[in-house]
Formats: sequence, C-alpha cells, structure tokens
Amino acid sequence: MRKNLIAGNWKMNATHLEAIQMVQKLSYRLDHNDYQRVDVVVCPPFTALRSAQTVIETDHLPIGLGAQNVYWEQKGAYTGEIAPDMLAKLSVSYVIVGHSERRELFGETDEDVNRKVKAVLDAGMTPILCVGETEAEREDGVTEAKVGGQVRAGLAGVTSDQIAGMVVAYEPIWAIGTGRTASDDDAGAMATYIRNTIADIAGEAAEETRILYGGSMNPGNVAGLMAKRDIDGGLVGGASLDPDTFASVIRYWV
Ligand code: PGA
Repeated sequence: MRKNLIAGNWKMNATHLEAIQMVQKLSYRLDHNDYQRVDVVVCPPFTALRSAQTVIETDHLPIGLGAQNVYWEQKGAYTGEIAPDMLAKLSVSYVIVGHSERRELFGETDEDVNRKVKAVLDAGMTPILCVGETEAEREDGVTEAKVGGQVRAGLAGVTSDQIAGMVVAYEPIWAIGTGRTASDDDAGAMATYIRNTIADIAGEAAEETRILYGGSMNPGNVAGLMAKRDIDGGLVGGASLDPDTFASVIRYWV
C-alpha cells in the first residue's frame, strides 16, 4: 500500500523567520488522523531549512523536511552549491530534483537530474523527481515521449529497490503557477503512464513508487485528482504558502 504524500514546494518564498511561523501554523491545523493518512512534507528554501527543522524537532511534529535542489558532488570548489550530506545532516529527508523551473531557468539537463537523483539516494534521502511537458509539447502530441524520456533518463542506473522508495512528480509545465490544472482524467492517465514506464525499468517495484501530481493543485481540485488510482499525492506550490490553505489541501477528504 502506498501512503499518500503531500509536499509543499515553497520555491523562493519565506525568510527563516517566516518559515518558523508557517510550520507552526500548519501544525496547529493538522492532527494525528491527518498524519496517519498523509505524509506531510514542507520544502522551504535552503536558508530556512535549519529553522524549520528546529520547530519540527522541538515540537516533535510528524512533518517531513524537504529541500528544493542539491548538487551531486560531496564537497569542493563549487561556489554557491549545496552538497547532499549538508542536507541529510539537517534531517532533510526529501529533495526535489529536476523541477521544471530548474530545467528551464537554470539549464538543468536530464543528465544533471540523474546525477542528482543518485547523489540524493546515496546520502540516504528520497528524491522527488519532477517530470512534465510544455504546452507546445502537449499540443504536438509528444507528452508521453517527453515525460517517458525524462523518467527513463532520471532513473538511469538506479536500482529497483531504490526506485520503489522514490517519489516521481508529474507536473505539466503549463499548469504550474497558472491556475490551470490538468483535468483529473489527463493527470490520472499520465500518472498511470509514468507507473507503466517505471514498471518497464524496475518491474514490480513500480507499484511502490509514489507518483504525485503538481500544477495549481488547491483545496478545490485536490480530491478529484487524489481519486485517481495512480496519483498518490501532490507537489503543491502556491497553495502551500498559506498554512490554512495548505492544511485544506492535505485534508482533501474533508
Ligand atoms: P503550483 O506549483 O502549485 O504553484 O502550480 C507547483 C510546483 O511547481 O511544484
């Protein structure tokens, strides 16, 4: 059985002081039953990880900590980069890898993304591998080719056991931050396509990999998306910045 997972991708928002309040407020809105049903994760910017971690540890909150990016080398002359172990030592357990903003704005290639996936796994953390097509690619009918290629490239050289524990987020680029969500059926079909692609690579392990939807997920559309067999949760951007709204997404069945 795959446990649902809802992760808030704060992107470049929140100072370390704001992060403390956001995590605290979120925790006031959630109870034991919610955490039983959903693994809750927040992904603040690097500069806020330490303060978020302190709140989580001090208050014994069952909230997972995620980072938004990482570099694949362990240490050295890589000005401005952050190594996997630096995150692991901060109790970071998830790392978003290959978000479309990293790919499009910062030139990350499939090869870079694959290196990062492996580095995150080597450090004992869970990659959230992001894949998705542009609007033009969807119109051209190459959505499956694009997404399938990203999944295969991202998972190259990763073992089936590792793939079983991973998270893959399907995020159609045209739906990110636009208020336009993929229809439940389209998102569900792509999640199934991704699981089938993973099964080609890793066999039965694909049944354990958690697949998220991301792209303007909000309290109004989350339930329909979550009803799809192969959608196991969400990667939530804008709607994760307000703790009340994010709690409503997490409690999607209410
Ligand atoms: P959004 O972002 O929810 O604001 O569309 C999702 C993401 O980019 O992870």
